[in-house]
Amino acid sequence: MSTYSEKSTKVQRLRVHHLAQAKQRGEKLVMLTAYDAVTARILDAAGTDLLLVGDSIGNTMLGRENTLEVTLDEMAVATRAVASATTRAMVVADFPFGTYESGPSQALATGVRLLKAGAQAVKLEGGATRAKSVKALTEAGIPVVGHLGFTPQSVNLLGGYRVQGRGEAGEQLLADARALQEAGAVALVLEMVPEPLAAEVTQMLSIPTIGIGAGAQVDGQVLVWTDMAGMTQWTPRFAARFGEVGAQLEKAAASYGQAVRSGAFPDADHWFAK
Ligand code: KIV
Repeated sequence: MSTYSEKSTKVQRLRVHHLAQAKQRGEKLVMLTAYDAVTARILDAAGTDLLLVGDSIGNTMLGRENTLEVTLDEMAVATRAVASATTRAMVVADFPFGTYESGPSQALATGVRLLKAGAQAVKLEGGATRAKSVKALTEAGIPVVGHLGFTPQSVNLLGGYRVQGRGEAGEQLLADARALQEAGAVALVLEMVPEPLAAEVTQMLSIPTIGIGAGAQVDGQVLVWTDMAGMTQWTPRFAARFGEVGAQLEKAAASYGQAVRSGAFPDADHWFAK
């Protein structure tokens, strides 16, 4: 595998048919969020299959409490940055809150904007009530990833960050998953749902499921990259830390500070004599 500094010229972009193929072959799909070009280049070089320009940019990068304030302009800027830095990963852009709920024509306008910014697919939250919009987007040539279970844009209605689909709510989630697939969705994110329910949805659907806090019996996993890489003080229970990049960055910044204060940096190797 090439390192992030060696950009391969021969990589093939992951496309919608590769998602279906992965499910048929039982190959797990790997998805991470990305919000900028620098990080996207590294995650792409690491072989991540799908990069989600998540509206989690609101709470992870922009210092907001949740995803609700994120605007379409902000999503377009982030999508452009991520798309510009990737060669292999499929770039999926989230529909931010307030840019698709009115129906198919609003959803179509949002989808066109994000595809023009460089996304290859879009993601929206919600089930059967979004089916008409998913169908309209699909008919317009815009691949759609669904998102069921805990849907962060509905945090106020759902009463906080809670597992979804327990008990009778499981039947509704199954019906929503079926409706999204029938409308043309190419994959489905399942967030914070009980493992047996995620397994049932995965077996029922022909499109791949990508879990986050949904157990292992799904077709792929997604994590917020800052959780995965140890950039935060707190990690959600369903996310594991696969590195301590935050600690490394702090160490590098402290070394730099020390070198500047002591006069060790810059030295003659790092200035222009004339
Ligand atoms: O915005 C996001 O990061 C997401 C993931 C949690 C799936 O939607």
